[in-house]
Amino acid sequence: MVNFDYQTPTRLIFGKGVISNLPDVMKPLGKKILITYGGGSIKKIGLYDKVKELLKDFELFELSDIQPNPKYDPSVLDGVAICKKNDIDAILAVGGGSVLDCSKAIAAGAKYDGDPWDLISYKVLAKDALPIVDILTLAATGSEYDCGGVISRTETNDKIGYMDPHLFPVCSILDPTYTFTVSKKQTAAGCADAMNHVIEQYFAEETTLLNDGFCEATLKSLMHNTKIALEHPDDYQARAELMLDCTYGCNGILSLGNSPSGWPCHAIEHALSAYYDITHGEGLAIITPKWMNHILNDRTVDRFVKYGVNVFGIDHALEKYEIAKQAIQATYDFFKSIGIPMTLHEVGIDESRIDEMAHHIAVNEGLDQADQTYVPLSENDIADILRASL
Ligand code: NZQ
Ligand code: ZN
Repeated sequence: MVNFDYQTPTRLIFGKGVISNLPDVMKPLGKKILITYGGGSIKKIGLYDKVKELLKDFELFELSDIQPNPKYDPSVLDGVAICKKNDIDAILAVGGGSVLDCSKAIAAGAKYDGDPWDLISYKVLAKDALPIVDILTLAATGSEYDCGGVISRTETNDKIGYMDPHLFPVCSILDPTYTFTVSKKQTAAGCADAMNHVIEQYFAEETTLLNDGFCEATLKSLMHNTKIALEHPDDYQARAELMLDCTYGCNGILSLGNSPSGWPCHAIEHALSAYYDITHGEGLAIITPKWMNHILNDRTVDRFVKYGVNVFGIDHALEKYEIAKQAIQATYDFFKSIGIPMTLHEVGIDESRIDEMAHHIAVNEGLDQADQTYVPLSENDIADILRASL
């Protein structure tokens, strides 16, 4: 088992009606609160009014219109400006992963004198950040339980995963009923995102029985409950289990003691959504089976066998490569069955910028480092995976 150093300081308050805790959670953090949110879904579900009512004794400021694949300019820059101008004490992010991620970058930028991009691009390490609390409305990214945020800078086609221990939320308020209104498209994309988070950790050189079991159970829970939630969007049990699956997905708890995997599908997908602004989970669902095909070889085949037998119930008596191929096909078939477009063409991406994106990924993501990646990928490998995904 590989050494690790793990700490997640985030308090999780989970269940129906737990928003009633909000005033007590915010009180120790200060009086001036910046509420951040997206394009308006929180108003439609009555959450915006509820938050305002619960926080009537606080001084509230707002940043709205944070877009999916949140943008540095204007959202992060505007948020930092509001915080600095008004001496904000804490941020309350209300929404999906994009709102949370943007809020994390704002929280760090608010405590930094220079250009916040210095922090996001790791030119400078953050020394401090404003405290963040979130009310999650979409199960997918796990941003509610990790210290990362992913920020896009349109003019340079960058989409950077920015991680810093200062950015763990102080508290995440997780009420699955807020996810009842999430569309079929976003429910499916959220499932694909969380499944990929697990897969990125499962496919590593060195793993443990404990982590493998945890990952396999999380994948099965995600698939089972997504099917139910798509059919019955207000099934509490299904939405609740999905929410917790997703929360576990991204903070590293599923791979403590594993060797690094490099998170290759994320590295590749972030370029797709940087260049074409596509939905992150859909990009991942398209890439994942193609990446699996690409890395299947004598060294990796046993991992695919374990995945196929334990996650999809494929007959373990079959020949190894047959199991592996069936497992990859089952992954593809599941994503297709929940309505995800399974080619890049279907999400508006053609061949024209494949080489440019492959170059961008190869230069920026370090997927060729053998000690950091399960199966190292060269620029040509990345271009092949992208072409196979067209
Ligand atoms: O903007 P609003 O009106 O709120 O609508 C959103 C948005 O259009 C809508 N939505 C959210 N909650 C809803 C709802 N609609 C109806 N009812 C609700 N309860 O859903 C749309 C998508 O929201 P978004 O926040 O973009 O989705 P998601 O949570 O999937 O976040 C995606 C972003 O997170 C990044 C992705 O790259 C992408 O930028 N990631 C963040 C990670 C992290 N912090 O650890 C890890 C992930 O791998 C991922 O990269
Ligand atoms: Zn993801």
